[in-house]
Amino acid sequence: MRRDERRSGSDRRDDAAWKSVALEITLATEQDVTEALVAAAVFARTRAHARYSGFKVGAALETSDGDVLTGCNVENATYGLTLCAERVALVKALSEGHTVFTRVAVVADTDNPTPPCGSCRQLLWEYCGDIEVILANLERTTATMRLSALLPLPFDARLLE
Ligand code: THU
Repeated sequence: MRRDERRSGSDRRDDAAWKSVALEITLATEQDVTEALVAAAVFARTRAHARYSGFKVGAALETSDGDVLTGCNVENATYGLTLCAERVALVKALSEGHTVFTRVAVVADTDNPTPPCGSCRQLLWEYCGDIEVILANLERTTATMRLSALLPLPFDARLLE
């Protein structure tokens, strides 16, 4: 008897299940992936520590490998030591060894989607380059732009060479 003929019926059913999972991944569209990135930022926002401003922000940073690192804003009593959601996501990613990034989604509960603050634009530019920035609110209204459009004349390492 050949080796594959010795496999049980349930083994073969398991194989069939795996094949259909692979097919679903192949069929995921660009829009699905964008929605998943925004959904990750929406969820991260629920973990925000924003007791001083009440303004909760979530961010999801996508790596070139398709990994997603999330962040939320973390405030504290000095106010000035506040960490923005985008920078939390970025330092998590860098500290886990990720170095190449493709997109970031930022979510806040505003009518018009909230763009990253100036400090976050600077850090994202230096570590992520000209990535796509997806802004969204809780109604999933989105705006998409390149980081270079948000930071058109950047100060960066090239000026220090
Ligand atoms: N915030 C972010 O998390 N990201 C931004 O890009 C804009 C501002 C946070 C910081 C602070 O906790 C709150 O929003 C109000 O400024």
